[in-house]
Amino acid sequence: MSVTNKYNIILGIESSCDDTSAAIIKNGEILSNVIADQVIHAKYGGVVPELASRAHQQNILPVVDAALKKANVAKSELTAIAYTKGPGLLGSLLVGTSFAKSMAMGLNIPLIDVNHMQGHILAHFIQKKEKPKPTPNFPFICLTVSGGHTQIVLVKDHLSMELIGETIDDAAGEAFDKAAKLLGLSYPGGPLVDKLSKEGDAARFTFTFPKVGELNYSFSGLKTQFLYFLQKEEKLNDKFIQQNLNDICASYQQHIVNYLFIKLKKAVAHYNVKDVAIAGGVSANSCLRKTLEKTGQEEGWNTFIPEFEYCTDNAAMIAITGQFKLEKGHKSDQSATPSARMKF
Ligand code: KG4
Ligand code: ZN
Repeated sequence: MSVTNKYNIILGIESSCDDTSAAIIKNGEILSNVIADQVIHAKYGGVVPELASRAHQQNILPVVDAALKKANVAKSELTAIAYTKGPGLLGSLLVGTSFAKSMAMGLNIPLIDVNHMQGHILAHFIQKKEKPKPTPNFPFICLTVSGGHTQIVLVKDHLSMELIGETIDDAAGEAFDKAAKLLGLSYPGGPLVDKLSKEGDAARFTFTFPKVGELNYSFSGLKTQFLYFLQKEEKLNDKFIQQNLNDICASYQQHIVNYLFIKLKKAVAHYNVKDVAIAGGVSANSCLRKTLEKTGQEEGWNTFIPEFEYCTDNAAMIAITGQFKLEKGHKSDQSATPSARMKF
């Protein structure tokens, strides 16, 4: 038996970087969220844009088909298609955009363009039938940390968001991935640094904080600082990395998290909000999650941590954003084009 057609049943499509994903959301409730990641990039130590768009082309049809089947929804039952318009890699975005446009045209249903970063934040509103959870109250502050972005966002409403701080160069995820590469770990390095940190002493090595004004961040200097630190230690002991890997990872990870929280605390105090959330791939980091919980208890914040499957790129977050936009009558048309540097 498939679900009836009297509700909003939205297909979300995400293809901004190296994950091809499709999801079905029915009135805010997740029915399926299928993700095909691209292992091909691991041997290059980072995402190769041309290979990513080719892999999206291979993956998109089976991924959409699997999402529909898993949700037990027929194409004819869909009420709208939401897709990631940007920001992201242009070649990757083009695959999802073209697919979404053709499918919406074929089914004669609305097409909704979604900002990927807004999607990461609205992932907090995805509900599971078997496990309903509280959602943040507006206005709240969200620290969105991913492979391409580090942003502090004042969220006034589902569709009204103000960027109040951001990195002026590299993203927090890049700081993890590039340090991991220097340590000889594979891509993406963030989850590996997290895992190795669990057995390490986070107080063993110290780093300094970049000096950037207001609520902004900078991670490129930290990356260089880490490189010089390794070079100096390896001159004294050529097995330094091998012998101290856990402590190096734990100390570096702790430093990134401490840095993220210096600005986050400032933002929360300045805007006087009570609800604080994290989002994006780096919000899967165990130290960041624990620190948010602990800081929340100390500062009296209500804290919101996304489920692991909605931290890294996924189409469920695109579908839920599509639903909020559809409810407010925001639609896109067939002239839509992807935007690599899309703002809120
Ligand atoms: O949001 P996302 O999937 O893609 C972008 O929109 O960029 O984020 C990917 C980033 C990568 O840099 C990856 O290393 C990082 O999230 N990441 C982590 C963890 N899991 C993913 N970083 C630190 N600890 C983790 N557990
Ligand atoms: Zn992302």
